[in-house]
Amino acid sequence: MRIVLVGPPGAGKGTQAVRLAEKLHIPHISTGDLFRANISQQTELGKLAKSYMDAGNLVPDEVTIAMAKDRMEQADAENGFLLDGFPRNVSQAEALDQLLQTEGITLDAVLDLEVPEDEVVKRIAGRRICRNDSSHVFHVSYNAPKQEGVCDVCGGELYQRDDDREETVRTRLEVYHTQTEPIIDYYKSQGLVVTISSLGPVAEITERALEALKREK
Ligand code: AP5
Ligand code: ZN
Repeated sequence: MRIVLVGPPGAGKGTQAVRLAEKLHIPHISTGDLFRANISQQTELGKLAKSYMDAGNLVPDEVTIAMAKDRMEQADAENGFLLDGFPRNVSQAEALDQLLQTEGITLDAVLDLEVPEDEVVKRIAGRRICRNDSSHVFHVSYNAPKQEGVCDVCGGELYQRDDDREETVRTRLEVYHTQTEPIIDYYKSQGLVVTISSLGPVAEITERALEALKREK
């Protein structure tokens, strides 16, 4: 399946993407994780991305689209993928459409994770991620690691993301409403949007998502 995951910061996109990608046997492609990997490897792209990310703004389309395109080519897009955090505005959605068109493929669904803003704030405040791989995501109380400060997956050190500070989170939410939400209407006009609630236990949301996606097939 070819799926795009959307939802506000802290909705649980990363948490669900890892689980869904495993169950559906498709690669998880997260532009946020790709940027964070570039930051930890101190690449030029990482340096550029960090200045935007720390302020809670979107990284410019040109570099983001090029990076996503590279990653999708590597992953053999025809065989399916789960995009997490991309596209994030209408021009990225148009670029993705173009890319898929040249490959002769289309999206199967856009899964929209709905969660109230006060819950988002609580989730982000308690989030801890792994130094080795930012797709290893925990929460100090909702999804606590077995040993405090240590990643269950790889034993790496857990830390709080630089862009999870309160004032940055406010900007990220604003950016979501003004720039990312419009892609939901864009995809609604293509009949692709499936909205589910992202409230409740993590495993239940995965089941909800799989059920909703089954109906889209
Ligand atoms: P990105 O990394 O994509 O961040 P985001 O979209 O803001 O989303 P988050 O990672 O904050 O949240 P999430 O929905 O994945 O939630 P999670 O699963 O972690 O992007 C970061 C930045 O990179 C952007 O601001 C931008 O600068 C740049 N960027 C990325 N893509 C870009 C693009 N396409 N164009 C331009 N710039 C781009 O869950 C959150 C917490 O809640 C965790 O602690 C988790 O354990 C917990 N949790 C999850 N599910 C539940 C549950 N059901 N119940 C209780 N707690 C839960
Ligand atoms: Zn880890």
